[in-house]
Amino acid sequence: MIQHTGWRQMNKNNMHKAELGVDMNRARDEVWKSAKLTHRFLTGVRGAIPLAQTQIEVMLRLLAMRRKPVRRFLDLGCGDGVLGAAILERYPSAAGTFVDFSEPMLEACRSKLPSNRVTTLLLDYGKPAWVEAVAGTGPFDAIVSGFSIHHQPDRRKRALYRELFRLLEPGGWFVNIEHVAPANPITSVLFDDAMIESIHRQQPQSSRAAVRRRFVTRADRSANILAPVENQCRWLRAIGFAAVDCYFKIYELAVFGGQKPK
Ligand SMILES: C[S@@+](CC[C@H](N)C(=O)[O-])C[C@H]1O[C@@H](n2cnc3c(N)ncnc32)[C@H](O)[C@@H]1O
Repeated sequence: MIQHTGWRQMNKNNMHKAELGVDMNRARDEVWKSAKLTHRFLTGVRGAIPLAQTQIEVMLRLLAMRRKPVRRFLDLGCGDGVLGAAILERYPSAAGTFVDFSEPMLEACRSKLPSNRVTTLLLDYGKPAWVEAVAGTGPFDAIVSGFSIHHQPDRRKRALYRELFRLLEPGGWFVNIEHVAPANPITSVLFDDAMIESIHRQQPQSSRAAVRRRFVTRADRSANILAPVENQCRWLRAIGFAAVDCYFKIYELAVFGGQKPK
């Protein structure tokens, strides 16, 4: 039986950090700039995310609700560009702007995606100045983000959502595939168990205990500032997004977003 004694303290810490709204995570989210963490995430954790393919399918179905092909999109905190890659494949005339503040991640992105359809920008979207750097490649028909914005304090998340609203074309969609705060301890237990089981399936040579230890002590975990998906949907509605909903959720993983009115 897996013990989950740490979650209460972690959630308390997350709440505290979120309430303060200050960027206490600045140093900790820098872990993503490490080549070692990039390699571990891309070769281990990313592939183990439960129903990852379904999440991407939901994202594509939402983008299709615009009823026009995507021409220009932004993948924010793109990592190796897994979300943008799905858009490029679905829409052969689309071009994407891929933003990340980790050079090893952008390198992984460039190595996998067609250079003639991709602009990569090394930017920290935690700082409002990122908008000017990206504006020249917009406005966008679609903005997507995967498991990235939860490193920002809540106040910055809300400001960022406002920036994304302005960067969208009327009718454009913002879809966030995101790690969100569990509403109760059971959600958290189920999430950890599913991740550990899935990573263990990929790494049968490691003991389950070792996989669990690595998962709960992973470097990026302490950089998480999870917010409930209900709150985030409320923020999007207040900004002016229409059709806002959580369209899919499994445990702590949600696909939510909305459309800029036409
Ligand atoms: C968990 S990875 C997810 C990568 C990818 N979106 C995916 O779905 O697999 C989070 C990514 O967000 C990036 N990131 C985190 N904070 C960022 C920031 N403030 N500015 C730009 N990129 C950031 C990290 O470097 C990392 O590549």
